[in-house]
Amino acid sequence: MNKKTMVITGGARGLGRSGAERFLESREWRVAILDVNEQLLFSAADELAKKFGAGDVYPAVVDVTARQSVEKCFQGILQRFGRIDCLINNAGVTRDSMVHKMKEEDWDFVIAVNLKGVFNCAQAVIPHMKDRKSGSIINTSSVVGLYGNMGQSNYAATKFGVIGLTKTWARELGRDGIRVNAVAPGFTMTEMLQTVPEKVLAMMVDKTPLKRLGRPEDIANAYYFLASEQAAYITGNVLSVDGGIVL
Ligand code: CAA
Ligand code: NAI
Repeated sequence: MNKKTMVITGGARGLGRSGAERFLESREWRVAILDVNEQLLFSAADELAKKFGAGDVYPAVVDVTARQSVEKCFQGILQRFGRIDCLINNAGVTRDSMVHKMKEEDWDFVIAVNLKGVFNCAQAVIPHMKDRKSGSIINTSSVVGLYGNMGQSNYAATKFGVIGLTKTWARELGRDGIRVNAVAPGFTMTEMLQTVPEKVLAMMVDKTPLKRLGRPEDIANAYYFLASEQAAYITGNVLSVDGGIVL
């Protein structure tokens, strides 16, 4: 069987790692996992290769903010797998502080990774998808990209921005058979939550009708659905996976 190829950024841990696992489990997809953290990336790739077979897993160390490296990286994936059917722009970072205390470098860093990184990876794959008249791009936004959040001006700007990119690309690329959607996770149990004070996390759970934090699998299932044929008529959509939280 000619398996499809999914590329996921920030694939070394958290939601990216869980997403990679969900696609590999189906046995219908090969996965390229991209991450800036070399050590974490290769240990994740080793574990996935042991579980699902080395032939279906391609790790690549890349910083999504570095355009030339991103382009080279996508060329490497195409050489290895011959096709890219889905790109998940999942890599993301936080540098939280109240707006009056936010450092310029923290603003610039978060914008570079969460927004420019998404643009860089999309630009690297879109020509290939246009040639094939087929493809799916999934951008990771956040509940913070829908409602805002105290302490996250930089992050909120990027996650609202990612929704703007999603809707714009859905309009531009639909004629080429490319679907573009976003997933907006709620607070989900990964290392990203380590900086969040206990009090704030408890408040978030309290505001969530399902009364728990998200699990990485909850988001991985949404990624998988949006990439699948079951979502063939869905584009420009933002799928909230957040237990119903209303901030
Ligand atoms: N929502 C509601 N209230 C919040 C809040 C939030 N996100 N963050 C802080 N507060 C409250 C605090 O509880 C505190 O309340 P009290 O004065 O009643 O005690 C008040 O705001 C001031 O907070 P701090 O004393 O902590 O102020 P600080 O300047 O020392 O720190 C901060 C500010 C860095 C923003 C810190 O409070 C913090 O890290 N807050 C959490 C921010 C957050 O939610 N980040 C999410 C990261 S995970 C993620 O981003 C993934 C995703 O997409 C959801
Ligand atoms: P995480 O911090 O656990 O993992 C992020 C991964 O991205 C790490 O492996 C990191 O090395 C990688 N990364 C960071 N900068 C990179 C760069 N410049 N180039 C390549 N890789 C880079 O975070 P988590 O929780 O898995 O988040 C994944 C995505 O989901 C992010 O976009 C995040 O904003 C979003 N999200 C997370 C939520 C949560 O509560 N965990 C909630 C809503 C959205």
